[in-house]
Amino acid sequence: MRLSLLLSLAFCSALLAQESDGKKVFETHCWGCHHQTAVAFGPPFSEIADKRTKDEIKAYVISPESMYKAFGYKRTVMTQFNLSDNELDLISDYILTYKGTK
Ligand code: HEC
Repeated sequence: MRLSLLLSLAFCSALLAQESDGKKVFETHCWGCHHQTAVAFGPPFSEIADKRTKDEIKAYVISPESMYKAFGYKRTVMTQFNLSDNELDLISDYILTYKGTK
């Protein structure tokens, strides 16, 4: 009983930590052009989350230059980043938390 309570606390704080790290990547690199649910220079995360998979999001962030045509854009103005695998994971998960919030 005690143990399962402890385990679920540990689980929740791991989830929280993950969300705030994803948010940190977002605030550091993406916020100037993307907002969570409002259209900014780029599309909102809620819209991206509704139409893309995690792998698609990662692929776009790794190389907008080679992905924009497949995503239906005529050109890309998005910055090319050099994020670590971990940061890519965190930011894609963070974007996907906005699924269904349009
Ligand atoms: C310089 C402005 C800018 C920055 C910074 C930026 N983006 Fe973008 N992003 C755009 C624009 C504009 C588009 C629309 C297509 C294009 O120009 O590439 C876009 C498109 C995207 C798409 C594809 C949208 C779709 O149709 O599914 C994803 C995913 C994305 N951005 C994620 C990110 C993430 C994650 C970051 C931060 C690591 C980021 N962007 C930073 C401007 C930016």
